[in-house]
Amino acid sequence: MCGIVGYVGDNKSLEVLLGGLKRLEYRGYDSAGVAVLDEAGQIGTRKRAGKLQVLVDDLEDRPLGNGGTGIGHTRWATHGGPTDRNAHPHLSADGKLALIHNGIIENFADLKQELLERGAEFTSETDTEVAALLVGEAYARTGDLTAALREVVGRLHGAFTLLVMHEDRPGEVVGARRNSPLVIGLGDGENFLGSDVAAFVEYTRRAVAIGQDQIVTIRPDSVVVTDFDGKSVETDEFEIAWDASASDKGGWSSFMAKEISEEPEAVAKTILGRTHDGLVQLNELDPIGDEALRDIDRIVIIACGTAAYAGMLGKYAIEQWSRIPVDVELSHEFRYRDPILSDRTLVISISQSGETMDTLMAVKYVHDKSKAHLLSVCNTQGATIPRESHAVVYTHAGPEVAVASTKAFVAQVTALYLIGLHLAKVRGTLDDAAIRAAVDELQAVPDKLAEVIDVAQGQVGQLAHWMTDTQSVLFLGRHVGYPIAMEGALKLKELAYIHAEGFAAGELKHGPIALIEPGQVVFVIVPSPRDPSSLHPKVVSNIQEIRARGARVIAIAEKGDAAVLPFADEVIPIPLAGSLFEPLLAVVPLHIFGMELADAKGLDVDQPRNLAKSVTVE
Ligand code: F6R
Repeated sequence: MCGIVGYVGDNKSLEVLLGGLKRLEYRGYDSAGVAVLDEAGQIGTRKRAGKLQVLVDDLEDRPLGNGGTGIGHTRWATHGGPTDRNAHPHLSADGKLALIHNGIIENFADLKQELLERGAEFTSETDTEVAALLVGEAYARTGDLTAALREVVGRLHGAFTLLVMHEDRPGEVVGARRNSPLVIGLGDGENFLGSDVAAFVEYTRRAVAIGQDQIVTIRPDSVVVTDFDGKSVETDEFEIAWDASASDKGGWSSFMAKEISEEPEAVAKTILGRTHDGLVQLNELDPIGDEALRDIDRIVIIACGTAAYAGMLGKYAIEQWSRIPVDVELSHEFRYRDPILSDRTLVISISQSGETMDTLMAVKYVHDKSKAHLLSVCNTQGATIPRESHAVVYTHAGPEVAVASTKAFVAQVTALYLIGLHLAKVRGTLDDAAIRAAVDELQAVPDKLAEVIDVAQGQVGQLAHWMTDTQSVLFLGRHVGYPIAMEGALKLKELAYIHAEGFAAGELKHGPIALIEPGQVVFVIVPSPRDPSSLHPKVVSNIQEIRARGARVIAIAEKGDAAVLPFADEVIPIPLAGSLFEPLLAVVPLHIFGMELADAKGLDVDQPRNLAKSVTVE
């Protein structure tokens, strides 16, 4: 949700903060603000509703002093609308302390009442301001910023990352986190804090993830991490695997366009180094161990949104290859129904950001309430969900900045397929020849993806331009085509603000066919005519049924599928692939379609309304 940056050092802090916020803007973009100490040691703040650029323009018109200590924030509103006043930072009563926050302080109403009774005045409707006032009071008493923050976090309920700085403490920024992300960037004579490494990767590739309920104090030449009781804690440094250019738009019109173009690379890099002699070798699963993997009698995949659709594809592949039953559940539904888990359950969480609160809370639930094994599939080094899991298989899609997930999706499916093949080997459910054949198929995906992008770009772009007035689009698929239908519909809703629904094509006659009227656009994901499950004729029949009722059918079908041609208004061809691998190809035209239609409607492709990239509140 909100993006957070903190800086201490010799550099001009405003430059560092605004650069970091630019890279974090995808996390929340309804307002932005900074606090910096000027050269004379006075705190200056500026905060503006709207995109980061509004703040940047304001700072150009009315510059702030620019010393070497500062904090910055991009907001996704929770308590209080997106206004200048509600934007962060918030100040203590004496105006000397500035605080920024990501998350929700659940007991803010009680704390606010307590402050009001002491005569405090509030200038915003946010939950955050109570923390600023309380830390200000505690600092006035203790004269120690770290101790003041520690005292206050002990009173807060909910999820938070907080950063504070004080006029009397130049060269010091203190941060605290509970269930919300915070990472340290280690520089030379300067140090950084950020919601994720994108905040500071331009300046350093050395990072340290901060654990739950920990406090960090950064100064230009020191970093001290303690727990909420003040005890020092061990930290692990890691090297950021990508450089700053990976999170730049380059020459692309949008991050989403760039990220779709990177789908082949995301798959290739996720496979890289994980095969040996044509078989899958996932050393990352060692902390769980082959013995436990052989003993597993059930897998539960938990995720949200696009990641959950990746999970559904994982289910088809893992069940087929390893013969272990797999359930896929939305993280936010999972933990509220007393799920049945045992030491023979493998829970796989999928999260691009590794910070999605719904998934994190589900993972913590599994961790605290069961003996189940926890495996995370994640795209972000140092994120919280992998740290709370027993093992992690990282997807190597590189930073995904556009709010709508694209390259992370294909990388997640790839990682799940690798896990499925590893399980098949460990449990002996596939012989080596079958595993090698599947690995060959997977390795062929990147080239085929590049081909689909090439072919679909023009064709789908044109379709989108014809459809700017369309009010509703339906998506149909069977088997592995079903999650793709839902993914296509989700992209259209979130990007083009069009009513869209994805259905299992077999479900059509059980209700949804009533929606079909002349002109209704329906995308159909058509399985290969070579598919051994013979779903192809069934889907062709479904197409005929909706065509007979006037639907305008756009089929995504294997190149050369002659049976579809007479019944579809448009066919988007994809290369030949095994049935489990087709969805990885079929999804691309739908990603492109969502993007192109949003673009044709003049909408912001990278930052759709009401959304944020990383949903760190429940
Ligand atoms: C849709 C989209 C979201 C995310 C979901 C989970 O395009 O991006 O549905 O997939 O919010 O996010 P992560 O994977 O970060 O847990």
